[in-house]
Amino acid sequence: MHRFDLTGRTALVTGAARGLGRAFATALAEAGADLVLVDLPGAPGLAETADLVRRTGRTAHPYEQDLSRTDELAAFADEVRAAVGPLHVLVNNAGVAALERFNEITPESWFRVMRVNLDAVFFLTQRIAEHMVNDRVAGRIITVTSKNGLVAEAGLAHYNASKAAAELLSQTLAIELAPHGITVNTLAPGMVETPIDGEFPFDRDAFEAAYRERIPLGRYARPEECTGALLLLASDEGSYLTGSRIVVDGGVLADQMPRTRFMPPYRNTLPSADPAP
Ligand SMILES: NC(=O)c1ccc[n+]([C@@H]2O[C@H](COP(=O)([O-])OP(=O)(O)OC[C@H]3O[C@@H](n4cnc5c(N)ncnc54)[C@H](O)[C@@H]3O)[C@@H](O)[C@H]2O)c1
Repeated sequence: MHRFDLTGRTALVTGAARGLGRAFATALAEAGADLVLVDLPGAPGLAETADLVRRTGRTAHPYEQDLSRTDELAAFADEVRAAVGPLHVLVNNAGVAALERFNEITPESWFRVMRVNLDAVFFLTQRIAEHMVNDRVAGRIITVTSKNGLVAEAGLAHYNASKAAAELLSQTLAIELAPHGITVNTLAPGMVETPIDGEFPFDRDAFEAAYRERIPLGRYARPEECTGALLLLASDEGSYLTGSRIVVDGGVLADQMPRTRFMPPYRNTLPSADPAP
């Protein structure tokens, strides 16, 4: 297990105040990393995530930065580097979504989603990668995309486009940073139990029940079920993974058509088998 050990390394996680970001920060701390935690000014959960990190015995440096202010991100990355030293792991996790038909998406909504999910990922990574090269760090850059960056879903034209773009951005940076020993990958979750998509313009319970039926594993992921993939990408164990992606979606993308529910129930064909559970 020592190849998953992150002792002596510092990881920056964006969107760390809740949801997946909090789970990622806690898992990285449990693996031994010190943490830089970034979220919006006034984000209520940031201090609580910092407490969770400190409870593991690691150091937490919380920062309040609106990542959509892309013209501030180079100076922000410089400030963090000066305060905490070299960064070894960058987790671009912060993201926003809005459910709206494509013809009703306003310029404000389109650019809000693009700024956080794509522009901020580019400009923050651009500067932090420069520091990693300068510091001769075998850095690990992980961007949290989505299964929606691979296959579309109605009502999320801006979100889908931003996540698909982040996938190709990650591959491009993987090639350009490979000579420096820095790996760049994506982690693409399916449906995860987090507060994202807070405003649902339709019956959320009915939608989620229908969605669960579409998921071969039959349920949404808990945030903690995405952290194993993250630790692989962040650690020495993932040293030959770059320009790649790990999909953590309970089997959704593997299932072209949910046919099993129309088929006869599973029967165990082994002669000695007990009746199927
Ligand atoms: N929850 C899911 O089902 C799911 C599925 C696939 C992908 N994802 C992706 O996982 C990532 C995390 O999502 P989550 O579900 O934990 O969402 P969440 O809404 O629970 O958490 C996102 C965090 O990002 C922060 N954030 C948003 N805009 C920001 C900004 N401008 N500057 C700084 N911080 C900002 C929020 O304050 C929040 O703390 C996102 O990139 C999301 O697209 C989530």
